[in-house]
Amino acid sequence: MKFKRHLITAALPYANGPVHIGHLAGCYLPADIYVRYLRSKGEEVIYVCGSDEHGVPITIKARQENVSPQQVVDKYHGMMKESFAAFGISFDIYSRTSSTTHHRTASDFFKVLYDKGIFAEKVTRQYFDEEQKQFLADRYITGTCPRCGYENAYGDQCEKCGTSLNPTDLVNPKSALSGKTPVLRETRHWFLPLDQFQEKLSAYILRDHKEDWKANVYGQCKSWLDEGLQPRAVTRDLDWGVKVPLPGADGKVLYVWFDAPIGYISATKELLPEGWEKYWKSNETRLLHFIGKDNIVFHCIVFPAMLMAHGDFILPENVPANEFLNLEGEKISTSRNWAVWLHEYLLDFPGKQDILRYVLCSNMPETKDNDFSWKDFLAKNNNELVAILGNFVNRTIVLTQKYFQGRVPHAEILTSADLHLLREISAYPSKIAGCLDRFRFREALAEVMNLARAGNKYLADNEPWKAIKNDEVRVKTVLNICLQISANLSVLMEPFLPFTATRLTSILQMPARRWADASRTDNLPDGHLLGEAVLLFEKLESSIIEKQMDKLSAGKKSGGHTEPGASITDFQKLDIRVGKIIQAEDFPEAQKPAYKLRIDFGKEIGIRTSSARLCANYTKEQLKGRMILAVVNLPPRKVGPFVSEVLTLGLPDKNNECILVEPEKSVEAGGRLF
Ligand code: 2FM
Ligand code: ZN
Repeated sequence: MKFKRHLITAALPYANGPVHIGHLAGCYLPADIYVRYLRSKGEEVIYVCGSDEHGVPITIKARQENVSPQQVVDKYHGMMKESFAAFGISFDIYSRTSSTTHHRTASDFFKVLYDKGIFAEKVTRQYFDEEQKQFLADRYITGTCPRCGYENAYGDQCEKCGTSLNPTDLVNPKSALSGKTPVLRETRHWFLPLDQFQEKLSAYILRDHKEDWKANVYGQCKSWLDEGLQPRAVTRDLDWGVKVPLPGADGKVLYVWFDAPIGYISATKELLPEGWEKYWKSNETRLLHFIGKDNIVFHCIVFPAMLMAHGDFILPENVPANEFLNLEGEKISTSRNWAVWLHEYLLDFPGKQDILRYVLCSNMPETKDNDFSWKDFLAKNNNELVAILGNFVNRTIVLTQKYFQGRVPHAEILTSADLHLLREISAYPSKIAGCLDRFRFREALAEVMNLARAGNKYLADNEPWKAIKNDEVRVKTVLNICLQISANLSVLMEPFLPFTATRLTSILQMPARRWADASRTDNLPDGHLLGEAVLLFEKLESSIIEKQMDKLSAGKKSGGHTEPGASITDFQKLDIRVGKIIQAEDFPEAQKPAYKLRIDFGKEIGIRTSSARLCANYTKEQLKGRMILAVVNLPPRKVGPFVSEVLTLGLPDKNNECILVEPEKSVEAGGRLF
């Protein structure tokens, strides 16, 4: 079946803590790479996500922090949303399950199933804490695992042997609220009869998706189905969540795993109030859920059963779940603070998002658990990003600047080796696509690097720096081919390394290109003028390993991640420089009136571009020659067709339009603010 559009989701993370590298490698990064690839192919696609703000994970955190659940979700929702964006995770919407739209959508969904008579209503006996006077959620009960004997198993799962449990399975149950032994009391709940969907689910998974689902996903589903599905309660005795929309159900909410996946629908509604139905109700939509392995049963069995029961919506076409990422050989643990937190990484390595994206992608736990280590991080930056990719592009640009004044030389006579390489280059987009289509992200990234390797080999074989002495014609051909490879690399690396791709596109001064264009070898026409050469990657000192390892062990002791808020060291990380405006041009494509500036920051930094909203207070002529201040080490930002590399600083006038901050006395371009 040919699908017309793609609806890509990544698991809604609980808003009970910041994002760490395990989350990223698990689903947000692979989904982002996949979505960027589809966009580059010109496909119709949306990428939806948001915070999962209900359930016991939130109420437990609120207890720990001694604040309300609402305060917990407000704090972490904002933090996660911001760090995802800064890391280049290109959601079309990042919503939250506390939104009114979501409450209504989840509530209506439940009502449809209720009205269809799907649910079984049952009175069961559940653990009740007599001291705290409340029923205990599964996570609030601990005890000994009946299967492996682990003493701190939870009421829903043993984290040691992975067995999923019922609270009454635990030996010696204890309430996590009071430490007392809970008693069993009767309570009424609504159950989704998964057993009645056994046949339909078996056909859906074992028959329809045996071939295309990943082995780890298929295997887990098969063992669930083989064991025989059981009814599952979809309501809880809790005061935090989506209220059960039935009379007499006070104090009861929807189980978080009932409402959370409906969050994908709510987020789509918020993104496209008029157009969401074509995504959820049409067989022409391909629905993919990117998740971590702990979420497999909910996305492959429970949610599809809910969707089948409802009847209006499509089913997931694939659920490419990843295994877990460990850190320095140990399981990532939020409670033990054994994690690399994204917001801290962004502060420690400003402008270096792509190193982490690269390292996480090349270690992605696609088929088995994998490990992240700082030693490997350093090695991958220095030996791969700098030595292979950065080195190739930089040599190509610098040599073109040097021999041909930055203009793309004409490819003269092609040797058979050249022709062979050109054919090889043209094959990369389909080779990489083949990997991505099968969710093989590591292999896909390795192929991007192979293209850069092929470029390096070609340079080494042809030695243009020697050939220039007596064969300029040959050098023209060699550099033309290297420039075409660089151009293609900028397209093919974009899903993986979007910040670097933007920077490279700006160096090449190349208009936006699609995936298929990367099989061409004429993306840069003869005579095309390149921009300034800027290093794509820089070597890191080995001292970063020690620093980060110290941080990990200190964090483990203190048991907490750094709270957001800037320190003086954070401030010092901003590189604010004096620059001289050398050119101001109109910027008609900008959303608000702005100029495109070229600013000279002296020898060390060179010339950088900036979009600046200065039209209200200055003409272009008035700007030329002025000294300004700008932050020069933020990631380049795409503003329409233009790449703004630095952030020009200004003060607001009474209309909130920008006035430049100018030095009072004469200063040199390149000086750093202190
Ligand atoms: O495991 C988790 O973090 C869950 N909050 C994932 C929910 S995914 C979806 F169902 F919303
Ligand atoms: Zn166990």
